[in-house]
Amino acid sequence: MKLYIDSANIESISWLNEYYPIAGVTTNPSILVKEEKPYLEVLKEIRSIIGNDKELFVQALGDKAEEILDEARFITNELSGNLIVKVPVTEEGIKAIKLLTAENIPSLATTVYTAFQALIAAKSGAKYVAPYVNRIDNLSGNGGLVVKEISELFTAYGLSCEILAASFKNLQQVHDVCLAGAEAVTVAPDIIESMVAFPSTASDVVDFKRQWVNAFGENRTNL
Ligand code: E4P
Repeated sequence: MKLYIDSANIESISWLNEYYPIAGVTTNPSILVKEEKPYLEVLKEIRSIIGNDKELFVQALGDKAEEILDEARFITNELSGNLIVKVPVTEEGIKAIKLLTAENIPSLATTVYTAFQALIAAKSGAKYVAPYVNRIDNLSGNGGLVVKEISELFTAYGLSCEILAASFKNLQQVHDVCLAGAEAVTVAPDIIESMVAFPSTASDVVDFKRQWVNAFGENRTNL
């Protein structure tokens, strides 16, 4: 499972990149707007934190395929390193994914709500598809089931496109899609931190330390 940070917050990204096995950072227009800073400045800062090898995802806004392609060329020139262009799975988006693939610009098909959208995007050359798990759940759908169906279709048709599941509101949803076959997940900082934090672990650590100090004082094991 590859783990991505779904945020453009510089402090959170620095912290999580230092402590967690992070594969990259995903952004979208709403995420970048939240930072209230020029978006290119933010993206360049993220790049300097994560380095050139980790993937940075930036979403195109154009309505027409050719506009999306222009944006992709622009952002690829502006930002160094491993960049993936996010393209919504509209009809124009699918055409754009085909054009990007022809230019060897890697893409992620985003705003995926159905397994068939994912299938068409993968057939068009998308490197990743991003099913919107929580938004599907909010529509009385089942985000985990959509991920499972996409995974089964990709296996059945021998497609190398990876599922990068997105839009989570809790850790249970992340857990479910990992079991359903997602190769990758992009998760907000607070949910990433909840992957490790557990009250029993914290109290066990306190107990071990207390017992050791009672027996041997403050001396460490010097391992
Ligand atoms: C990925 O970057 C997606 O755009 C994001 O996970 C959507 O999440 P939301 O449904 O919480 O806005």
